[in-house]
Amino acid sequence: MHDIYADIDYILIDENKLQTRIQELAGQIEADYQDDEDLLLICVLKGGFIFLSDLSRKMKRPHALDFMAVSSYGSGTESSGAVQIIMDLKQPITGRNVLVIEDIIDSGHTLNYMRRTLLARNPASLRICTLLNKPSRREVDVPVEYLGFDIPDEFVVGYGLDFDEIYRNLPFIAVLKSEVFAHLG
Ligand code: IMP
Ligand code: MG
Repeated sequence: MHDIYADIDYILIDENKLQTRIQELAGQIEADYQDDEDLLLICVLKGGFIFLSDLSRKMKRPHALDFMAVSSYGSGTESSGAVQIIMDLKQPITGRNVLVIEDIIDSGHTLNYMRRTLLARNPASLRICTLLNKPSRREVDVPVEYLGFDIPDEFVVGYGLDFDEIYRNLPFIAVLKSEVFAHLG
């Protein structure tokens, strides 16, 4: 059997660091929304699913959840810039306090598209929470209200993030050995 742990070069952010930071983010979000009765967390699939589940479970205040899937990189590691909704929300967000939960902001195209699409539906408020940020890769400027970690320009996997749909289940953020990418030429 192929052991995915054997493909790891090094761990960039371990489980402990992730959970500590996510607890801080949950506290910050609860403080900022303490005067608001309504809060809807929107998870951007697939990469945001583990972050959403940990962040949501660290919060004590009531909040609703919904999911949205947008097109990503396919099997490569470079963004095409073209973004598409693959699965939309189950409910309207008009008048609601919406917080978008994303795994990583890289070029910024995905979140820029999400932001414009969701704003057009007239939410009461719209903020973005991303676990990871690669500032050196930004092509479009997107305001991000909650940020877990700035990371260097490395392709990372784990904690929801994939390479070719694999490695999402790793409980930390890691960089793969270069030979794993070799077949891409
Ligand atoms: P952006 O549109 O370039 O900002 O890219 C955002 C999306 O690309 C994320 O939601 C991820 O699905 C994917 N992505 C960007 N960087 C990485 C990475 O280092 N590892 C895995 N997926 C990534
Ligand atoms: Mg992906």
